[in-house]
Amino acid sequence: MTVHRLPGLIDPHVHLREPGGTHKEDYATGTAAALAGGITLVLDMPNTYPPTTDAGLLAEKRALAAPGARCDVGLYLGASRDNAAQVAEAAPGAVGLKIYVNETYGPLRIDDLSTLMAHFRAWPKGKPIAVHAEGLAVAQVIALGILYGQRVHFCHVSRKAEIELIAHARQKGARITCEVTPHHLFLTEADADRLGPFGQMRPSLATPYDQFALWTHLDFVDCIATDHAPHTVEEKRGVPPPPGVPGLETLLPLMLTAVVEKRLSLERLIELTVTNPARIFGLSGQPDTWVEVEIGPTWEITEQGLFTKCGWTPFAGMPVRGRVLRTCLRGVIAYEEGRILAKPGQGRVLFS
Ligand code: NCD
Ligand code: ZN
Ligand code: ZN
Ligand code: ZN
Repeated sequence: MTVHRLPGLIDPHVHLREPGGTHKEDYATGTAAALAGGITLVLDMPNTYPPTTDAGLLAEKRALAAPGARCDVGLYLGASRDNAAQVAEAAPGAVGLKIYVNETYGPLRIDDLSTLMAHFRAWPKGKPIAVHAEGLAVAQVIALGILYGQRVHFCHVSRKAEIELIAHARQKGARITCEVTPHHLFLTEADADRLGPFGQMRPSLATPYDQFALWTHLDFVDCIATDHAPHTVEEKRGVPPPPGVPGLETLLPLMLTAVVEKRLSLERLIELTVTNPARIFGLSGQPDTWVEVEIGPTWEITEQGLFTKCGWTPFAGMPVRGRVLRTCLRGVIAYEEGRILAKPGQGRVLFS
């Protein structure tokens, strides 16, 4: 057994559900889950109710996050069918613009070419455009990024063809980055059958062949992001179940297992979870911020003691080889041995 100290992790893709979804998660519970997972900065998605689509709504969300957050939080602005004229004004308060090209949870889907063009034209250059794009839409968005000179970040890449296309575009000089999730790295469609609605998310779990391609193309992956997307057990049992699974508390146990299995080095894991997200989203470092992890002994992921309000995980029962011992944010212990010590409001909201 060894204990290692890593810098606090940055998760560029989480859904903390405020406003409008606080029965699923809120800033206080979601950031507690982050700290328990060794994550000290999360970038929060705009598909809330109402969605975060202009400067006023961004300010309202900031006013909810500031007193609730136990770790640091950055906020995305959401692209909608009718807000392209407003995004530039709101950009200084956001970490990036989020565009949903395919159907998923929330009201923000845009599949119309002229609206997409308007957003790629309007967004001030510098901060990334993060995109939910699957299949052919990946190729379309690569083209838009090149044509409008925008930096595109692909969320939750899950298929062999997608990661191959992204790798190829990068070799040709396209300014694109991408993330993959632990659930697409560790689960497949066989798990989706076993888990029923608790294994349903967008993009859906894929074949072992797709999963293998993500691992073999890890050199072209910039970030591991959880896409922490909590829904209640009751909602997941409903018809149809909303897509999404929680992930903040299981990223490090799973990825440290991959380190033990020599699928990647600890140094590479730090690039994927700290250095690269900081660079892509222009985030300054958090001084005196670290996470202490234990690597080696086997334990089993359970639903007991989770801090996410939804109270479940698709990884329950999975044996893992790493766990978070304690997390420190700006010199103050925020999580230790199963207990959250950070208070709501101790986290900072970026760009405020
Ligand atoms: C996300 C959610 O629930 O907000 N769901 C999901 O299945 N990933 C939306 C998203 O990230 O696409
Ligand atoms: Zn070490
Ligand atoms: Zn998505
Ligand atoms: Zn998401």
